[in-house]
Amino acid sequence: MTESAQAFISPLTFQALSGHPVGTRLLDEDQEHVMGHISLARWADSVLVAPATANCIAKFSHGLSDDLVSTLVLAATCPVFIAPAMNQAMWNKAVTQENVARLNRDGFRFIGPASGEQACGEIGYGRMAEPDVICETLSRFFCHCDLSGKKVLISAGPTREPIDPVRFITNRSSGKMGYAIAEAAIEAGGIVTLVSGPVALPPPKYCQIINVESAAQMHEAVMASAPNSDVYIGAAAVADYSPNTHQPEKIKKIENTLILELFKTRDILAEVAALPVQRPFTVGFAAETHDLERYAKDKLAKKNVDMIAANWVGKDQGGFDRDQNALQVYWKGGGKQLEMTDKTQLARQLINLIAEKMNEKNTN
Ligand code: C5P
Repeated sequence: MTESAQAFISPLTFQALSGHPVGTRLLDEDQEHVMGHISLARWADSVLVAPATANCIAKFSHGLSDDLVSTLVLAATCPVFIAPAMNQAMWNKAVTQENVARLNRDGFRFIGPASGEQACGEIGYGRMAEPDVICETLSRFFCHCDLSGKKVLISAGPTREPIDPVRFITNRSSGKMGYAIAEAAIEAGGIVTLVSGPVALPPPKYCQIINVESAAQMHEAVMASAPNSDVYIGAAAVADYSPNTHQPEKIKKIENTLILELFKTRDILAEVAALPVQRPFTVGFAAETHDLERYAKDKLAKKNVDMIAANWVGKDQGGFDRDQNALQVYWKGGGKQLEMTDKTQLARQLINLIAEKMNEKNTN
C-alpha cells in the first residue's frame, strides 16, 4: 500500500480481510535481510496495481522508485497490470495519456479505466474497472489453453422429470462440475452458452445461460445451439427415464400402490455426436458406481463422441455434490488420468485437454 492508500484504508483492514501480510514500507526492518521489494518482485507471477493513480502511473512511466509500490513495479520482471482510477480530466490530460502510451509500449497491461460517475461527482473515463472485471482479466491471462473465440456449448446440472404438477424425479447432481467447466471455458477465451438444469449456484458471468428443467427441454435447447458450436460438453446428469406424462392434476393418495411408467429420454449427447453436418467436437461424461473404464470406453464408441470424462459416483466417492473430483478421460486411441482436486482446477485441466485434442483433430 502506498502512503495515499493508507490515508483511505488502514493496512490492518487489508491484512484482516485478505489473511496476508501487507507491505507498506520500502525499508522494512523485518524484511530487509531478504531485500523485501526484490524478493517480492521475484516471487510474484504478476503484479496488479489497483487502484493506480495518475501519480503512480507517472512514476512507473519515468522509472521513479521512491516507495514500495513503485520500487516493486520497477524491479518486477513478470507482467504488470495497472487498473487506473482518477478524475476524468486527469485521465484525459495529454501528459497522463503519454505516460499510459509509454507504459503500453513497454509491455504494461492496462485494465480499464471504466467510464461513469466518479467519486468527485464528475462523469467520464477514469473510474476503476469493476473488481470482477479485473479478476476475470487476470485469470484469463493465466490460462495456458486456447479456446479464444471458440463457441462452447455446455450442459450442466440435473433435470427434473415431472410426475404431476407438484412432483418430479431428479438426481443428486449439483451442477458444480458443469459450472466449473463453464468458468474454465470462459477463462480460456471461449464464447460460452450454458444450458442448465435447476441448481443452486450463481450463474457464471460473461456467458449466455439458458435455464431448463426437464430432459426434453434440455434436448431442445442443446439441439438448437449445437450446430452453431465448436464444442459441446455434456456435463449434465440428464434423466435416462421420464414419466413423460402430461398429468394435469396432482395424483391423489388413494391406492396402496402407485406404478409409474417411465420412458427412455432422448440421448442428447449421442444426437449431437450424430449430427451429419456442423458437428461440434463432442465431449461426454460417464458417472459410474462400478466398472468405470469399461463403461466409459463403451460410451465413447457407442455414442461416437470425441472424448469421455469418467468419474466414480456413489458413497465415499468424488462426483456428485462434492467440491472435489477426479476424472479418467478417454479418447480414441488414448486416455489421461486427472487426479483428485477441486472442481475449479479439474475443470481447467479438462478444458486444456479438450483444446489440445480439438487442435489435433483440426490439424489432422
Ligand atoms: O449413457 P449415460 O447416461 O451414462 O451417458 C452419460 C452422458 O450422456 C453424459 O454426458 C450425459 O450428459 C449424456 N446424456 C445425454 N442425454 C441423456 C442421457 C445422458 O446427453 N438422455
